[in-house]
Order: sequence, then C-alpha cells, then structure tokens
Amino acid sequence: MNIVIFGAPGSGKGTQSDRLIAEYGLHHISTGELLRKHIAEGTHLGKVADSFISQGQLIPDELMIDVLHDLFRQHPEHIAKGVIFDGFPRTIAQAEALSEMLKEYNTEVHAVVGLDVDEDELIRRMLQRGKESGRADDNIDTITKRLQVYHKQTAPLRDYYTNKGSFHPIDGNRTVDEIFDSIKLVFCNK
Ligand code: AP5
Ligand code: MG
Repeated sequence: MNIVIFGAPGSGKGTQSDRLIAEYGLHHISTGELLRKHIAEGTHLGKVADSFISQGQLIPDELMIDVLHDLFRQHPEHIAKGVIFDGFPRTIAQAEALSEMLKEYNTEVHAVVGLDVDEDELIRRMLQRGKESGRADDNIDTITKRLQVYHKQTAPLRDYYTNKGSFHPIDGNRTVDEIFDSIKLVFCNK
C-alpha cells in the first residue's frame, strides 16, 4: 500500500509517518529530509536545494522528479514494501509524475491522508521546533513564505486527489494519538 501524507508545513506529516512506519512497516520517503541530508553533506543537489529551501520556495519540479525517479531505480524493493510519501508530491506536475512512476512498478497511490491544521497552530509548532532543533527554515520569515507557497502550489492537490476519490481529510489539530487513530481507520477501510 502506498500512502501520501499531505499537509501544510508543520502539520505533522513527519510525526504521523513515524507512527505509520512503526505500525505497518512501510518505507518512508520524505523529500524534505532527503534534501536536508544532501545539504548537510554539501553535495551538488544539496547546494541547489539550499538556495530554494532557505527562501521557502519549492525545488523545481523537474529536479525533484528526477531525484525520486533515481531513488525508485536504485531501490525498487522499497516500492515492493509499500511507501509513505511525506512532502511529495507538492505540485500537480509531481502528482502526475508519481502516478506514472508507480505505474512502471504496477502500483499506484492508494490513499492520500490530508492533515488539516489551523494556521496559528502551524506557526506555533514550527517556531517551537525552530527553537528546539534549530531547523534553518523554521524562522518566521521563511515560515510565512512556506505557507504562501503551500496555498498557491500545493493546496490544489486536495481537489486533484478528491476528484480521484483518494483524498481523506483528517483534523490535525488534535493530539498525535488521536490523529493516528483516525489515520488507522483510513487504513482499515482500504
Ligand atoms: P519538508 O521537510 O517536507 O517540510 P514541510 O512540508 O514544511 O513540513 P515540516 O517537515 O516542517 O512539517 P511536518 O508536516 O513534517 O510536521 P512535523 O511532524 O515535523 O520540506 C522542507 C522544504 O524542502 C520545502 O519548503 C521545500 O523547499 C523543499 N521540498 C521538500 N519536498 C519538496 C518537493 N516535493 N518539491 C519541492 N520542494 C520540496 O511536526 C511539526 C512540529 O509539530 C514538530 O515539532 C512536531 O513534534 C510537532 N507536532 C506534530 N504533531 C503534533 C500534534 N498533533 N500536536 C502538537 N505538536 C505536534
Ligand atoms: Mg516533515
């Protein structure tokens, strides 16, 4: 089963992915974590990614899709296991590319779990994390930009997946456990 965890910056995608991995043993692909690893290692991709991430902008579709394609080719066993996609797709072009890539492996996106969180709570969570972990894009200027980019470029995916019948909105303002219980219900009904 392939799941997309969808939501605004700070909505809990990473947190709920960890719970899903523990419960169902799926493979986790977080494009944000992948890019931060490249930045830490100082690779060419990392340098390019840093120039976008620090401005709260998305990495261009073509580059991001290539990165995913390479990952699939290098690790087809991950797709066989089932994947949680966290932070990908973020645009309609990425969603269409994902569908094409999964088709090559005779599979598809089975469910999209959308975490709905109020904007003031999103900002509170990211500022708090910025203080605790020092994540570079968790400052108010970059957070504001990330939220604008989310509304403009990523939020249209809600309608895209709703039209495909695979979007499951979940109230993400609750506790981690309560949210996870709702996600498990989506799994049970699939
Ligand atoms: P990415 O790393 O994906 O960041 P994001 O989407 O901004 O989301 P976050 O990781 O900040 O939040 P999250 O939803 O994972 O929430 P979390 O569980 O951490 O992307 C970073 C950047 O990389 C992008 O801006 C872009 O530049 C680039 N990028 C990545 N993917 C790309 C793509 N596909 N295309 C182009 N560019 C791409 O939770 C947040 C905090 O809240 C944590 O501290 C957590 O402990 C806390 N928390 C979680 N749940 C709860 C709860 N229920 N109650 C209270 N606190 C909670
Ligand atoms: Mg995350």
